[in-house]
This record gives sequence, C-alpha cells and structure tokens, in this order.
Amino acid sequence: MSAPAYTTAKPVVVSLAELEDGTFFPNRCVCRMVRTLTHRGAGSVASSTLLEAFGPDSLGIIVVTALPARFAELRTRLLSYASHIASLPASTLRALESPGSNYLVGWSCGRETLSADGRADTLKGSYYVNCAYYTSPTLDGAAGADRYPDFPEYTAGNIWPPLDGFEDTCKELCALVIDAAALVARACDRYAADNVAGYTEGYLEHVVKTSTTTKARLLHYFPPPPRGTEEEGEVGEEEQDLDSWCGTHLDHGCLTGLTSAMYVDEAASPPDISRAVELEELAGPPDPEAGLYIRDRKGRVVKAAIPRDALAFQTGEALEKITRGRFKAVPHFVRGMRAGRGGGRVARNTLAVFTREFILSFHLISFPFSPPYWVSDARWLTWRTTSRQSRICGRWLTTRRILRGSQR
Ligand SMILES: [Fe+2]
Repeated sequence: MSAPAYTTAKPVVVSLAELEDGTFFPNRCVCRMVRTLTHRGAGSVASSTLLEAFGPDSLGIIVVTALPARFAELRTRLLSYASHIASLPASTLRALESPGSNYLVGWSCGRETLSADGRADTLKGSYYVNCAYYTSPTLDGAAGADRYPDFPEYTAGNIWPPLDGFEDTCKELCALVIDAAALVARACDRYAADNVAGYTEGYLEHVVKTSTTTKARLLHYFPPPPRGTEEEGEVGEEEQDLDSWCGTHLDHGCLTGLTSAMYVDEAASPPDISRAVELEELAGPPDPEAGLYIRDRKGRVVKAAIPRDALAFQTGEALEKITRGRFKAVPHFVRGMRAGRGGGRVARNTLAVFTREFILSFHLISFPFSPPYWVSDARWLTWRTTSRQSRICGRWLTTRRILRGSQR
C-alpha cells in the first residue's frame, strides 16, 4: 500500500513580540527557576490571524518565532539528553519507570499501543515530567495525592535520570515553553472575549499559568531497525500507512507546545555523555516523510514543518470546548524515520508540553462559563473509575479526554 499523498503546510507565524505587544522583560529570576519572559502587554496579534491559525478552516497550529536567545541552547541540550536517556542500560531504565503513575512519569517505552495495528509501541521511548514546579518550586507533582489517589500520573513526584544537568535543563526549557503558551493563550482570550458569549476574561491564560497538571514529554524515536530484520516485521514501514508510528489523534488539553525535532545519526555521533551532552544535529531528516502531519478540516494530509528556532502550539480538545468550537482541535500524527533511508542510525528527538486545566479541582474552578455545562460531580466520580488501559489508549469520550488529556 503506498503512502497517502500529502502537501506541505504553511502555518501561521507570529513573533513573541507580537504576542507580547513589544513589551519584553527577559531573565527575571523566580525562585530557582529562570522565567525567561515576563508578560506585560496585551498582545497585537489580530483576531483574523488567530482565526487563520486555530479557526474552523485552520490547521490548528501557530508557529512562534523570535524566542529568547537561550532557547536554541536549551533545545539542543534537552533533545540531546533524549538520546542519552534512551541509551542508558536496560536496568537503569527500568529503575526510571513509574508503574504507580501508569508509566506517565519518568521513562516509558512499550506501554502504549500503535493505533495502526494494536502492537505495543516500542518504536519510541518517552520521558515524562510533571510541570507543577512551574507554579511553585515546592511542588513536585500536583498537590492532593492523598485526596485524589486515582490521579497518580499528575500527583506523582518526578523521577530524574542519573544525568548531570538534565533536571535543570528540562525545567528551564519547559518553563520557557509554558511562558510562551501563556502568551498564545492571552491572544486566544482576547479573541474569545470578543466572540464567545459569556467567556470569562483571561481564563485560558490563567489556566496555562496556574495549572499544576501540565505535562512534558521528551520523545526519542529510536533509529529504525535494518530492513528485513525480525524487529522490522514482515511488512516494511514503507508499505504501512503514514501514521503507523504515532496514530492520528487529538491532543486533549488546551495548547500543546512543540519544539522542532532533532535528528541525530547515532552511528556517526554515538550518545556518550562522558564526552559531551550536545549531539551533532543533522540538517534535517534523511527520510523526507519523517515528521509531524496534520489532517486538515477537509481530511487532507498536510506535513507541518517547525523551524528549528521556533516553537509551535497546537490546539487541543479542551481549547475547542472552552471556545465553544470557535477554535478547533487538530488531528495529527507523527512519522519516524523509515529503515534504509539516509544510511546510519538516525533517531528523532523532540519535546511536547501539554497544558491543561487543573483537573483536581476541575469541577470547581476550571470552567470559563457559569454554570459548568458538561460536567457534574456524579459524572466526575464515574470518570475516575475508568481503566488505565483506556487512559493510555486514548479511547475516551470527549469529556473524559478533557479530564485526563493526551500525552502524545
Ligand atoms: Fe499529539
């Protein structure tokens, strides 16, 4: 079966200064973390631009450029760590797993299924980090583990790999992504205040800034196995659907921040942290079909490229609900490198940061409308009993997805 045809997207691009209306206060220290941005301006992104990025006929993605200079250094360093983590001994990786949090903290590999055929996904490994520290350096996971025992994936403390500098780099880059997400959220708020009846002013920005359930996922797509090996299977990647690596899905939160992917030839540049953290980055994927794809509103497949010096933000289902459908969640998928393309052993590393409501008091504070219109305490209690497998596979009703959120 040949791969479906696709076109290349031209996403909407805005600068950080436009989002912040030119008011920029870099490097304000907040406790241990370095907040790279301080938000002061109202933003100058036109409503028409936001509608073009997130509206009913959009690709559901906006690219933010002109980031702080430190972004490039942090991106290279953190994405290199993904290869270093994946190359740790198997016994070390097992010790970094967190079964108690449903493998949604620390190292996780083979715990999800590929939607294409239901196989366990061993094509990529992930390192999950709870970003509650963003709201307070004293938090290491959302508060309330004793009151909400069914949400360990958010209340569990982080597990850090035995790699010097990883924790600081991860926290700093994720904070930068959340800072930028808050500015995108502010622009969404301005649009929603003018176009969504009853919308609470500043709601989405408040969510992004104060949520303790924001989750980061550092992804490592392993180099594809050589052609014809047992690991590759009888059907080559070339013959599978484009979305065979990470099935088509919607993110469930508000805004998902994405870095561009780093491609590393791990044969030419083996991960050896004793020599250096930063790995040599390829100019691009040797396989031109590797990368992020979006299904547009007419069902067409569109390949989206994120510039190396930029961040992209995708819409999730919660944002669609919050704006009562004015902004649409975007179906998307990722394809890794195929075997035999470009030679070497090329891995793909990237970072996704999922912002979402503070679920533990979701039914009390997280609705922009009054009264809440799609949840009740009784249903809330029912949702909490849903199985772990359902959570991981993402087979939730829309409302459930808002509560739990996708990590893909
Ligand atoms: Fe996703």
